[in-house]
Amino acid sequence: MNSFKLKSNGLKLFVFIASLIPLGWYVWGIQTDNLGANPIEVVTRGLGTWTLNFLLMTLAATPLRHYTGWTWPLIIRRMLGLFAFFYAGLHLITYLWFDQFFDWLAIGKDIFKRPFITAGMATFLLLIPLAVTSNARAIRTLGERRWKQLHRMVYLCGVLAVLHYTWMVKADISNPLIYWAILAVLLSARGLSRIQKYNVTG
Ligand code: HEM
Repeated sequence: MNSFKLKSNGLKLFVFIASLIPLGWYVWGIQTDNLGANPIEVVTRGLGTWTLNFLLMTLAATPLRHYTGWTWPLIIRRMLGLFAFFYAGLHLITYLWFDQFFDWLAIGKDIFKRPFITAGMATFLLLIPLAVTSNARAIRTLGERRWKQLHRMVYLCGVLAVLHYTWMVKADISNPLIYWAILAVLLSARGLSRIQKYNVTG
């Protein structure tokens, strides 16, 4: 194995283990009864926050590569995206299980009644095709152009996810505002890099 492959595998292993730390933290918290008076809320919200963090880290990879020339962001981009999906799945499960006790009728009503649940669900549904097609075979099957078009949906997921958070928070929206600011920077960086690319290639 050449040294680049070795380094990139090492980086992936590091990111993989680091990405499991939040989950480990909540599992440990539950086991040791260390999550306060309302552990379900702490876990649901914590998993939601980590979903958002991973989604934004995924969105940061391409601009970071573009503006710095570093290759490592692209090496871990797919893994970060899959972790966003993984944490979204766990976040959804905690909602379905501990919030709604798998009462599908109530869940259906909740999706239509509470806009923040609608936005969260829409984000999750849009992430599914991205996760399913996040492999080399899907790129070959779809063709690079169509695959890229599909994966641009990740930006919409970012917007919907922050909207979900904003609508959830009733009073103090300072944390969602921080996420909006990060998202605005990432979307502008992406937009600018596309304009630059367009100008270079004509
Ligand atoms: C996939 C994208 C999603 C992201 C990025 C996301 C993100 C978040 C964030 C950041 C929070 C607030 C955490 C905090 O207060 O610190 C949250 C809370 C929550 N989310 Fe999501 N979420 C997603 C999907 C969903 C879905 C699909 C559902 C259910 C259908 C859902 C239901 C909830 C609930 C019930 C809360 C807690 C509300 C409360 O405690 O009052 N989320 N989510």
